[in-house]
Amino acid sequence: MYKSEKLALSLKHLIESGFWKANDKLPSLRQQAETSGFSLMTVMNAYQELEAQGLIYSQEKLGYFVTGDARSESNSNSVILNEKIEINSKIFRYLKSIQSEQMVPFGIAFPNSQLLYSAKLMQTLGQRAKHRLSYEQMPSLPPGNFELRKLIAQRYCMQGIPTDPSDIVITSGGLDALNLSLQAMTQPGDYILLQKTIFYGAWQAAEHLGLKVISIPEHEEHGIDLEAFKDAIERYPIKVCLLMLNSHNPIGFTVSDDIKYQLAKLLHERDIYLIEDDVYEELYFDHKKPLSMKYFDQKNLVLHCSSFSKTLGAGFRIGWVYAGKFSEHIQHLQLMSTLSVNSFIQNALVDYLSHRHYEKHLKTLRNTLKRLKNQYYTYLSEHLSEDYQIHYYPSGYFLWITLPEQINGNLIYEQLLEKNISIAPGSLFYQTDNIPHHIRINCSFEINERIQNALDALIQCIYPEAFE
Ligand SMILES: Cc1ncc(COP(=O)(O)O)c(C=O)c1O
Repeated sequence: MYKSEKLALSLKHLIESGFWKANDKLPSLRQQAETSGFSLMTVMNAYQELEAQGLIYSQEKLGYFVTGDARSESNSNSVILNEKIEINSKIFRYLKSIQSEQMVPFGIAFPNSQLLYSAKLMQTLGQRAKHRLSYEQMPSLPPGNFELRKLIAQRYCMQGIPTDPSDIVITSGGLDALNLSLQAMTQPGDYILLQKTIFYGAWQAAEHLGLKVISIPEHEEHGIDLEAFKDAIERYPIKVCLLMLNSHNPIGFTVSDDIKYQLAKLLHERDIYLIEDDVYEELYFDHKKPLSMKYFDQKNLVLHCSSFSKTLGAGFRIGWVYAGKFSEHIQHLQLMSTLSVNSFIQNALVDYLSHRHYEKHLKTLRNTLKRLKNQYYTYLSEHLSEDYQIHYYPSGYFLWITLPEQINGNLIYEQLLEKNISIAPGSLFYQTDNIPHHIRINCSFEINERIQNALDALIQCIYPEAFE
């Protein structure tokens, strides 16, 4: 046993025996080194081991503290501390690998472009392109085009969320909105909370900003596990949570209003900020648009991020954040990075949104996605055995499939890549040392001969007995 492991074990005993209580400060590294006779490095390794076990947490410049409810590792394994995130290179390699036009794009994150880029919007862009003046007509500096912010603010008001255009900052897509929000609210080394399975952009942002991630598991029925959430916020000094509650990517669930309300109460009690990633908010199949957490936000703790990428086209790169009191700070960050968001597209969007073309387009888009998702689900269900769990939710365009435990999603991805078929392996969305046995499929493509063949090849690859 290493010296650091020995030291960690004896310190753990002090915590579990109650000698050190919740939120007690541990001796500084130097004090501990002096009293124990171990080197600074040994003490640091021991503290890091205890932190990884969730027994202590660190606070920049203040030192190490006993976590709120210091339980043994075995009791607390649903809340996980991810100290150092390293995912960006993996995502980079993945995105490069699926780029070819020959590839059947079940792995991509955007809806089939045939369903986006609405003809009316393209017409508006064409008309605007003829008038050079319109390229510069509106000031393009942060927070972005006033008329566009006004139209976005109106959409919030229609959902019962009082909003002023000054609350909104236009960003270069939803990802920029998430990154800017997180950057505005955290310092390197801070703790943030993520769902265990979540859009890889959230993990990338944590890596980029040097944040420690506390992750909580999904709940089979409710989507989010409130008990684990409570546990996490009691035990760690969480600065901000970043969550997806509507049409979750990759799993697909939408959290009920009741659970959202309870979540908001917990955030309010502790004044914890929430960045809500809601880029699929318009892609619901039921009659009613799901509420966002912003609706339940009485204390201005929620920064709501969304974009037009999933409804009009990712190529436009237009998103926004309901930034409220963080608006100034986010604008300052924009001035040091992207400077401004494409003003030409912002102007065209103003025309398009003011004439209610968007509502018509959304209606058609939702109906098409619903039809396609049902077709894919039915076909896959007919051909896969019960050992394969296909998670169906009435929104969006992803199907998340849990494979039998022995099937490795990464290998499936590689095998299909050789056949020019892309899928998204589960390992892009969570951190694990085990075999990742999930895959995500984009089902926004009409089932023609090419897609049908690819679907059959996919089924054959994950379940070779399917066509026997
Ligand atoms: C959940 C989620 N959030 C944010 C984004 C980024 O959206 P945008 O293209 O608007 O930057 C994506 C894109 O795939 C996403 O799936």
